[in-house]
Amino acid sequence: MIKTKPIVIANWKMKLGLSESVALAKAVRRIGSKDIELVICPSFISLTEAAKVLKGSQIKLGAQDCFWEAEGAFTGEVSAGYLKEVGGEFVILGHSERRQYLGETDGMVHRKVKMALMANLIPILCVGETFDQRQQGATDYVLIQQVTKALEGAPVGLEQRLIIAYEPVWVIGSGQAINPEQAATAHQVIRQTLFDLFPASLVKSNFAVIYGGSVDGANVASFTGLDNTAGVLVGGASLKIDKFTAIIKNI
Ligand code: PGA
Repeated sequence: MIKTKPIVIANWKMKLGLSESVALAKAVRRIGSKDIELVICPSFISLTEAAKVLKGSQIKLGAQDCFWEAEGAFTGEVSAGYLKEVGGEFVILGHSERRQYLGETDGMVHRKVKMALMANLIPILCVGETFDQRQQGATDYVLIQQVTKALEGAPVGLEQRLIIAYEPVWVIGSGQAINPEQAATAHQVIRQTLFDLFPASLVKSNFAVIYGGSVDGANVASFTGLDNTAGVLVGGASLKIDKFTAIIKNI
């Protein structure tokens, strides 16, 4: 993997309304950082206003999901093209909370990844094992399956970036991250799977693997310091500006 600027992606989940999102986007803009690629992912309804706040800064905007069709009779869904139109550059796909609570399958995630790529959004594909799967020794199998099913046959052009976020499901929101060696092992499995799916040169230049799950200011450097880790996806600790600042400072 080519080591570039570390990427820090803030997943605000369904935790902030419009005014709170605007306030936090302003605060993130004030900290900024030239040495880190920062992406914030507010809820759909806050994207337009967040884009206005970020205009002229280096901070980028992402969404937390998109639909797999470009448009049509799909009540309640949001198309990748609409996200692009309001200034979105990234989109989180296949987050474990969506897989768990909304019945998202690998097949659905695959269609969403394809649509995101077609709309020129950068997918942040989330994969990860549950606690039971880890106990059963199935972690590698789960990662290989999820990455393969989401990405096999996806039209990744020479100019397109793709981010895979390894998020052990049992660690998300727990306050206790896994140890960096466990993350490094999982990232290796993901990279090997990518090499099986795409030309090596494309994987090396266009794909990045990041870690997510209870990342905070105290542990962030142990993940971003790994050779095969390009950054972090942060949930809880991205919602309070002091905690988020600590993450950025400590990388
Ligand atoms: P967490 O969430 O940092 O609160 O564990 C990460 C995520 O769900 O992306």
